[in-house]
Amino acid sequence: MKATFHGLAATGLALTLAVVPTYAQMYRTHAPGTLPGVVFAATTDSDREQGLDGFHLDFMYTLVREQLDPIISPNEQSSHMHRVFGGSNFGAAYNRDELYDSDCTSAGISADKSNYWQPQLYWIETNGQFTPIDTISRFYYFLGRVDPSIPVKPFPKGLRMLAGNPYSKAPILNNAAEFICQVKADFTNSLGLDNFNFPRDCPWGMKTAMHFPSCWDGVNLYTTDNSHMAYPVVNPPRDGGCPYTHPHKLPTIFLESTWHMSQLPQAAKKPLKGRLAWANGDTTGYGFHADFTDGWDTDVLKEVLNDPGCVNLNKSIAAQDCPVLARYMTTQDIANAKACQPARGVLLEPYGNNDSVTIPTLPGGAKGDKPTCDPAVPVQDVSNFMVKDGDYVVAAKDQMPFKLDNSSGWHDTGCFGTAVNVGVFDGNITYADTGLNPGRCQESCSKNGMPFAGLENIGPNYLCVCGKALLPLAFNVYSGCDKKCPGDASETCGGLYKIQAYYQNPQYIGIDKNAVYMGCLGHTSLSLQPTLIAKSALNVSRSDMTRERCMTTCKDNGKTGWAAVQGKHGSGLKSGTTHIASPSVGALLAAVVLTGALAVTRG
Ligand SMILES: *[C@@H]1O[C@H](CO)[C@@H](O)[C@H](O)[C@H]1NC(C)=O
Ligand SMILES: *[C@@H]1O[C@H](CO)[C@@H](O)[C@H](O)[C@H]1NC(C)=O
Ligand SMILES: *[C@@H]1O[C@H](CO)[C@@H](O)[C@H](O)[C@H]1NC(C)=O
Ligand SMILES: *[C@@H]1O[C@H](CO)[C@@H](O)[C@H](O)[C@H]1NC(C)=O
Ligand SMILES: *[C@@H]1O[C@H](CO)[C@@H](O)[C@H](O)[C@H]1NC(C)=O
Repeated sequence: MKATFHGLAATGLALTLAVVPTYAQMYRTHAPGTLPGVVFAATTDSDREQGLDGFHLDFMYTLVREQLDPIISPNEQSSHMHRVFGGSNFGAAYNRDELYDSDCTSAGISADKSNYWQPQLYWIETNGQFTPIDTISRFYYFLGRVDPSIPVKPFPKGLRMLAGNPYSKAPILNNAAEFICQVKADFTNSLGLDNFNFPRDCPWGMKTAMHFPSCWDGVNLYTTDNSHMAYPVVNPPRDGGCPYTHPHKLPTIFLESTWHMSQLPQAAKKPLKGRLAWANGDTTGYGFHADFTDGWDTDVLKEVLNDPGCVNLNKSIAAQDCPVLARYMTTQDIANAKACQPARGVLLEPYGNNDSVTIPTLPGGAKGDKPTCDPAVPVQDVSNFMVKDGDYVVAAKDQMPFKLDNSSGWHDTGCFGTAVNVGVFDGNITYADTGLNPGRCQESCSKNGMPFAGLENIGPNYLCVCGKALLPLAFNVYSGCDKKCPGDASETCGGLYKIQAYYQNPQYIGIDKNAVYMGCLGHTSLSLQPTLIAKSALNVSRSDMTRERCMTTCKDNGKTGWAAVQGKHGSGLKSGTTHIASPSVGALLAAVVLTGALAVTRG
């Protein structure tokens, strides 16, 4: 290893601690690129806004380079070469208990027997041969989230997941992948791209990094489409709130490798563009992907996530600075990690598995011109690398999916966060109510035929939000919906920009369950609709008008056509002049209005 690299493998523990760049050095001191055609990756900019809260493990060593993938190709040889870290019982298939029983882990926290792996990266020689590039890797566990009340939970035992997509030919969603060309020793002037084809050399290494999804559905340990996991919303890929469908926030694993281009004499000083291939043959770089199987001592991880010395510090600390983790990172633990060997031996390749040794073809036969990830060709016997596959679903008693309570009546559905462009309810009707309380909002939503009722505070206003459905990006927070209701301090009315949501099964919705929401006419368009108001058979003005009061009033007065409520422009309903229009057609209807707008409903 050249002395110029800030590496761990050869430099040793003491020195390493001194020279390993901090996250801040590597990610927060970039200046925009200066080369024409090199754009600074958007991901890197968004990094600046992401919380740094978390810890990073600098003592992570390669366990093995091997053509196995117990997630994608259980019980056979996988289609391409992987670089694997972690528990020594890695194999062609295994289950959580077996992985957890690993004698050692190449990741320097002895309580973490998880496996982490990613494709090997190759330098394409001018004669078309391939040279595997050496790397130093580490992981970060990011613990930031949009609201500190959201708990970060340990991985469910035996979780398996993927990040990235081996077939991708375009930047992967959520900016989950990062590529950084390190130009200088002090990591200034580093360049960012969304793939590895930098039009220059990267003398201080080319860094690849992958964010794993961190929101779990509470039920599945693995699904073939990875749908049991999701990225956070609001601030993906790292922080943010978890979509309500995947309500459990786990640590965000960030697997980072610095590939040592200049360790290969043939690669030194050469532009990277066109010279790199992932093990599956992908030369675009977009086919970057990574895998994780949980082998943590769950109790230890739980302790970490509840230790004020390790979380909510608003910075990324070295893992050994977290007191709980330090217990599992003794000098002996680090030495064991460095010496850790795969328990089942190594599935040897015809051309060997060594770094920096040029081979004629990619293991598995990918050509290096396109991403392939075809089903494994069982070239080699992997029977020595297998045991029983792991569970795909957690035990029934431990399942924690998001569920709506479908029994009759309104049910507390949790406190939801809101953010710019991230609402909670689809098809919502929102109005301010100075006399707001949960019962009143629920009643009004019932009468509007809406199964969801939400209470929110914005500045001086208390809002009732009725909705047809939860929006896919709606995310739970776990506290903050504790504002006292205006006029009734014994009840709570949501929180500042937080919506306390209630649900009732639509089949139990009351008198106007067949109501059809007809639209919400703006104030100006109302003046273009004189007929509606002109046909009004009854006009009532009252200071505390609500949609249900409007309907009730119409009904009580024998007007069973339309009911419309209008608020005065710029005012809430309370002070607005209201009109109720009940033409003679149809069954009773109701309408409600927002500030300065008219809503009409017909049943
Ligand atoms: C977290 O740290 C950043 C800078 O590192 C600072 O701008 C921000 O105010 C801090 N947030 C809290 C809540 O302390
Ligand atoms: C690969 O490395 C091993 C030692 O780790 C060595 O014995 C072997 O000769 C190497 N193979 C090649 C092809 O360089
Ligand atoms: C609840 O009831 C609604 C309507 O009756 C139905 O569409 C929905 O699937 C039910 N949900 C559950 C979790 O049973
Ligand atoms: C209500 O619907 C509007 C329009 O679709 C949306 O912009 C807003 O975020 C929604 N509000 C809530 C609280 O869901
Ligand atoms: C209700 O008010 C509208 C608009 O001012 C008017 O055109 C209509 O005649 C009124 N209806 C009755 C019954 O007073």
